[in-house]
Amino acid sequence: MSETFHPQSGAETEKLFHRRKFLEFLSASPVVAPGMVSALAGLSALGTDAAMAQSYDVLRQSPGNVGEIIDSPSQALNVFDFEPAAKKALPPAHYGYLASGVDSDETLKANRAGFEKIRIRARRLIDVRKIDTTVKIFGETWASPIVLAPVSSQAAFHPEAESAVARGAKVKGHQMILSTVGSTSIEDVIKERGAPVWYMLYPTDDWAVTEALVRRAEKAGAPAIVLTVDRQGGRNTETLFRERRLDTRTCSDCHTPGFKNEVSRKPMFDDIDVSKVTNLYGTGMTWDYVKRLRGIVKGKLVLKGIVTHEDARKALDYGVDALIVSNHGGRAEESLEATIDALPEVVQAVNGRVPVLIDGGFRRGTDVIKALALGANAVCIGRPYVWGLAAFGEPGVTAVLAIMQREFETIMRQVGATKLAEITPASVSRA
Ligand SMILES: Cc1cc2nc3c(=O)[nH]c(=O)nc-3n(C[C@H](O)[C@H](O)[C@H](O)COP(=O)(O)O)c2cc1C
Repeated sequence: MSETFHPQSGAETEKLFHRRKFLEFLSASPVVAPGMVSALAGLSALGTDAAMAQSYDVLRQSPGNVGEIIDSPSQALNVFDFEPAAKKALPPAHYGYLASGVDSDETLKANRAGFEKIRIRARRLIDVRKIDTTVKIFGETWASPIVLAPVSSQAAFHPEAESAVARGAKVKGHQMILSTVGSTSIEDVIKERGAPVWYMLYPTDDWAVTEALVRRAEKAGAPAIVLTVDRQGGRNTETLFRERRLDTRTCSDCHTPGFKNEVSRKPMFDDIDVSKVTNLYGTGMTWDYVKRLRGIVKGKLVLKGIVTHEDARKALDYGVDALIVSNHGGRAEESLEATIDALPEVVQAVNGRVPVLIDGGFRRGTDVIKALALGANAVCIGRPYVWGLAAFGEPGVTAVLAIMQREFETIMRQVGATKLAEITPASVSRA
C-alpha cells in the first residue's frame, strides 16, 4: 500500500504536498504563462488553512491519477472514500464485522438518514476567518468536539491497532475512548496518545473482574469510565454472517470458542482471573449495577447507549457524569431510530446538568454541527477512523480526522459561528 500522507507533520505536510503538485501542474500546463506560476506560488504560499480552501484549489491535484479506490489517504475527498479502500485491505469476515449492523441494517441506515431531515441555517456577514473548535469537558480542553468512539479488536483491522489510532488522534488533539476488548492495553494507548484517554467498560458478570478493570484503567490515568449499556443480549449481525461466507480462511484458527479464549486474550484482562466469567456484557445488569459501579469509580462515570429521556433522567439520579447517546452504530437493536433523532429528548431531560455526547453515522462536518446545534457537547465517530486505519494505518486515521475537522470548520464559517458556543438551535431547522 503506498502512503503519501505524512502523519508526523499532518495537515501542514499535506498542504505543502498539494501546493507542490499544483505548481508542477501549472508549470506543465500549456495555458499558463511561466511568470504566472511564480505569482500563483506566492499566492499559494499565503497559506490559508484547509477549511478556507476554495473550489479552484482542485487544480492542485494532477487530474486522472486516482482509480476507483483510493490508494493513498491524500486522494480522499471525503471519509466515505476510505470504506472501499478498507474493504479491499481486509479479509471479508473482518470487513463484515466492521460494516455490520443488525438484522437488515436498517438502524445503521437510519443513523445516516436522520441527518437528511435537518437543515442548516446559514448566516452572513460575520467575520469567521478565525475559528475556535475547542471544547471543555470535565475541566479538560479538547482541540475538537470530534472524538474517537470505542471500537473493539482493532488488530483485526491493522497490525498497529489502537496504537496507530492513538498516534493519529494525537496529531490534532482528538480525544479517544478505548474499548475493554481492544487489542492494545490502556497503558500503551495513553503512551502513544501522549495524554489520558477514556476507558469503555464491558463489565463481565464477575464483579471482581469489573473492579480490577476499573482499577487498572484509573491507575493508568483514565479520567472517565464509560459503561456501555446497550448490549443486553445476543444480536443478529447478518452482514457479518454474509461476508463470513466469502472468507476462505479458517476463522477458528484464531477465534477459539469460549469466553476464556476469545476475550481473555485481550490485554486488558492480563493478570485478571476470568475463570468465573461467562459473559462479557454484564447481561442482567440493572440500575443497581450503576449504583454499585458509581461507588467504586473515582473519576467520572459515563453511560454509553442511552436513547430515551426516561433513561437519561434515571442516569442523573444515579450520579452519572455524562451520557453518550448511542445505538452502538446500529449494532445493538434494530430500532429504526437515528441517534440524531433521539438526541433532543435526552438533551431536554439532562437540561445542561452533564455533558451529552452522541455517535452513530457521523461522516460529515455538517453532521457534527447538526448534533452540536441540537445540544450535544461532542460527537464520536466509529467506523470512519477504522476505515482509515484498515486501509492505511496511522496516516489513514489522521486523514479521516483532518477531513472531518476541515468540513466542520467550513460549515462553522457558513453558519457564522467562530466558536462552539455560537452553534445554537437557531443554526438548524427541521426539513
Ligand atoms: C467494529 C465495531 C466494534 C465496536 N466495538 C465497541 C465496543 O467494544 N464498545 C462499545 O461501547 N462500542 C463499540 N462499538 C460501537 C461504537 O463505539 C460506536 O457506538 C459506533 O461505531 C458509532 O457509529 P458509527 O460507526 O456509525 O460512527 C463498535 C462499533 C464497531 C463498528
